[in-house]
Amino acid sequence: MPLPYSELVMEHFQHPHNVGRIENPDAKAIEGSPACGDMVAVYLQVDPNTLSITDIKFESYGCASNIATGSIITDMAIGKTLEEAKQITWKQASDALGGLPPIKTHCSVLAVDGLRAAIQNYEEKHGLAAEKEPTTLEVVQRRLKHVMNPAVGLDIIRTKLVKSVDIADGVIRIVIDMEPDNQFAGNIREEITEKLAHLWDVVSVSVEFESS
Ligand code: FES
Repeated sequence: MPLPYSELVMEHFQHPHNVGRIENPDAKAIEGSPACGDMVAVYLQVDPNTLSITDIKFESYGCASNIATGSIITDMAIGKTLEEAKQITWKQASDALGGLPPIKTHCSVLAVDGLRAAIQNYEEKHGLAAEKEPTTLEVVQRRLKHVMNPAVGLDIIRTKLVKSVDIADGVIRIVIDMEPDNQFAGNIREEITEKLAHLWDVVSVSVEFESS
């Protein structure tokens, strides 16, 4: 039986707004849903004086509900300040779409998490983050869960690609279980560096590849 989607959901799904990527964005984030394994990427352009969102784009590797929510929250976020955009909830997004079936709640949560993570990425890069938590092993592991293994479309923690993580005096050393000349090695190194290098207490990040 097809899910009872509202007309608005169908409209946003079929003609989503703000789809795509921004080249050289001021901030970006990829979020994955633990519920379904789908992903969403959010890109931001921010006015550094007003801290408002001047452009926003998203790419969804999720379902119709996720695409429709991505479309509506990017509409809602554009022009808002980062603080205002952070307050957008999945409930507001879902209400703006005329409601989503309860089984699809996680899809709108995923889109909103993507937006919040992109805002957090901007704040961290610009030293605006409210609290400065120390970069512990747990923080690194949590962030590595957002780095995808492009070969399978799941994160590198779940696909057991991370062999070891060492942190000493702000220097992070990560060993990935992969041949150094693997076609995805460069991409994985770039994603890991992007996730960790700008953290306030991190001095450098090295990513090595060793196949076991
Ligand atoms: Fe995965 Fe909707 S089922 S985002």
